[in-house]
Amino acid sequence: MRKKIVAANWKMNLLQHEAATFMTSLSESSLSSSTGPDVVVFPPSIYIENLITLNTADVRFGAQNAYFKESGAYTGEISFGQLKSIGCSVILVGHSERRTEFSESPSVIKKKIDAALGNDFDCILCIGESLSIREMGAHLEFLKNQLLESIEHLNENQVAKISIAYEPIWAIGTGLTATVHQVNEVHDFLRSTLIDKFPEAGNNVRILYGGSCNEENANELFACLNVDGGLIGGASLDVNKFLKIIHAANEVSRIEH
Ligand code: 13P
Repeated sequence: MRKKIVAANWKMNLLQHEAATFMTSLSESSLSSSTGPDVVVFPPSIYIENLITLNTADVRFGAQNAYFKESGAYTGEISFGQLKSIGCSVILVGHSERRTEFSESPSVIKKKIDAALGNDFDCILCIGESLSIREMGAHLEFLKNQLLESIEHLNENQVAKISIAYEPIWAIGTGLTATVHQVNEVHDFLRSTLIDKFPEAGNNVRILYGGSCNEENANELFACLNVDGGLIGGASLDVNKFLKIIHAANEVSRIEH
């Protein structure tokens, strides 16, 4: 049985005092990854160190982005080594907002994955199709390519450090969640693609869903066979909503056991 992950992607939201208040509330909620899902928070990087200090809950902190070079003249960038030095060991890679707003190419994404693994980070690789690709009925082929172009070169041990987040672009921030049928189709397909390519690790790679996942729909999404949790944007900014989503993952895991 794969353990679920509930991850908060705050994107470029919340001021420092709001982030701190969130963390204090989360700390008071006595989360435990031994009984509940793994919880990861991806705040803006400038807050990570402070949040680690405030945190008394069983929560890990990840960065929304890092550069693949070790050090040097890369103005504005943060390296994996620097993140590691403040206690951060999880990274988001390939988010559609980075692919589109910041023109991140497949080759950059691949280099980031390699740098992450080289620095012993756990990685959440995001993939997702646009509405036009889905309307053409080409989403499965597209997703397979997007997945394999980033991880095909890895070995079984390396792929075990990766989780996948399926985030259909048309569902991100739109309030338009993929249906259970659509989610099952994609997640089952990604699972068989992973197992074909990585017969040992493929069944253990966790596949999260992201895209208008919230406290109301988390339960039915997390109950899908190959949905191993969620990557939450908007609904993760409100600690009560986020806690309800964690609770949903907890409930579903309990029933599955
Ligand atoms: P929303 O939950 O706001 O749709 O964002 C999803 C997402 O992009 C998480 O990475």
